[in-house]
Amino acid sequence: MLEASKLDKIINDIIFYIKKSQEQIYDITENTRSEYVHIKEELEKVKLSVTQLIDRVDKLSIREKKARLHLMEVSRNFNRYTENDIKRAYDRAQKMQVELAILRGQEQVLRDKRNDLERSLRRLQDMLGKAENMMSHLGVVFNYLSENMASISSQIEELHKIQQLGISIIKAQEEERKRVAREIHDGPAQLLANIVMRAEYILKLMNVNPGAVKEELTNLQQLVRQSLQDVRKIIFDLRPMVLDDLGLVPALNRYIEDFKNQYKINAELVFFGKQERLPPATEIALFRVVQEALNNVHKHARAGQVLVKMEQLSDKITIRIKDDGRGFDPASIEQSKDRECYGLINMRERVQILKGEFKINSLPGKGTVITLTIPV
Ligand SMILES: Nc1ncnc2c1ncn2[C@@H]1O[C@H](COP(=O)(O)OP(=O)(O)OP(=O)(O)O)[C@@H](O)[C@H]1O
Ligand SMILES: [Mg+2]
Repeated sequence: MLEASKLDKIINDIIFYIKKSQEQIYDITENTRSEYVHIKEELEKVKLSVTQLIDRVDKLSIREKKARLHLMEVSRNFNRYTENDIKRAYDRAQKMQVELAILRGQEQVLRDKRNDLERSLRRLQDMLGKAENMMSHLGVVFNYLSENMASISSQIEELHKIQQLGISIIKAQEEERKRVAREIHDGPAQLLANIVMRAEYILKLMNVNPGAVKEELTNLQQLVRQSLQDVRKIIFDLRPMVLDDLGLVPALNRYIEDFKNQYKINAELVFFGKQERLPPATEIALFRVVQEALNNVHKHARAGQVLVKMEQLSDKITIRIKDDGRGFDPASIEQSKDRECYGLINMRERVQILKGEFKINSLPGKGTVITLTIPV
C-alpha cells in the first residue's frame, strides 16, 4: 500500500512544479505580449510608409506619363523643336522611368515587410491566447490540488484508523464469545451434567435407600439454584437489562455489589451530580469500561479495596476507578507489541469513540487509578 506520507510528498511536489510552470508560462506570456506590442508598432510604421510611398509612386507615375507624352510630342514635331529640346525631353523621360522603377521596387519591399509583420502578429496573438488558456487551466489544477488533495494523507490515515478500529472490534467480539463459551462450559454446563448424574443416582436410591432421597434432593435443589445463578450472571454480563431499564448508576451498583460478594474485594461506587439517562451506546460503553477495569482489579491487582467514583455534570462525565493493589507500569504494557490482552486497549478505544479522554496512573507497588472523561 502507498504510504500516506509518500502520497503527501508526491502531491506537494506536483503542486510545486505546477507553481513553477505557472511562473514560467507567465514569463513567456509577458515576453510574448511585449513582442506583440513592439511588432504592432513596427507594423503601424511600415503601413504608414507604404501609404506614403504609394502616394509618391502615384504622383511620380503621373509626372512620368507627362514626360513621356512630352517626349512623343517633341519627337513628332522635330521641325518645331531644336535638337537640344529633344535631348532634354528624352533625358527627363528616362530619368523619371528609372526613378519610378526604384520607387516601385521600394514599394514592393515594404509591402512584403508589412505582410510578414502581419503574419507574425497573428502568430503571436495565437500564442498569447494559448498561453493564457494554459495559465487558467494550470490555475484550476493548482486550486484543485491545494484545496482538495492537501489533506489527503490525513484522510487516508483516518480511513486506516477506522479500518484498524473495525479489526479490533471484531477481535474483541471474538474474545467476548470465547469468554462466554468458557463461562457456560465451566459453570452451568458442568453443573447441568452434575445434576443429570445426581438425578440418576436419586432414582436408584429410591429403591435402595428411600430415606436418603430427601437429603439428596435438597442437594440437587442447591445445584439447580447455583446453575440458575450462574446463568443469570452470564446473562447480566452479556447485557445487563437493568442498564436498559434503569440506567448506568443502578447497573453499576448492582455489578459492584456482585463483584464485592464474588471476589471478597471491598468495592464501592460513589456518585456525584445529577443522574440523567445517557444515549444507550454511551451507557453500555461506560459500563463496559468499568467492568473491564474491575476485571483487571480482580485478575491482576491483588487489591483489598477498589473505589469507583463517578461524576455527572451537564457537559461531561468523569469516572475514576482506584485500587490499592500492586500496580504496574502502563508504558511497558502499552508498548509491547503482539500482546494477547485487549482489556486496556478496548477501554481506551471505547472512550475514544465517545471522543473522551482516557488515562492510566499506576506504579508498581502503588495501586492503579484509571480516569476517563467523556463529553456529554
Ligand atoms: N488494576 C491493575 N493492577 C495491576 N495490574 C494491572 C491492572 N490492570 C492491568 N494490569 C496489568 O496490565 C496488563 C494488561 O491488562 P489488560 O486488561 O489489557 O489485559 P489482560 O487483563 O491481561 O487480558 P484481557 O483483559 O484481554 O483478558 C495486565 O496483564 C496486568 O499485568
Ligand atoms: Mg484485562
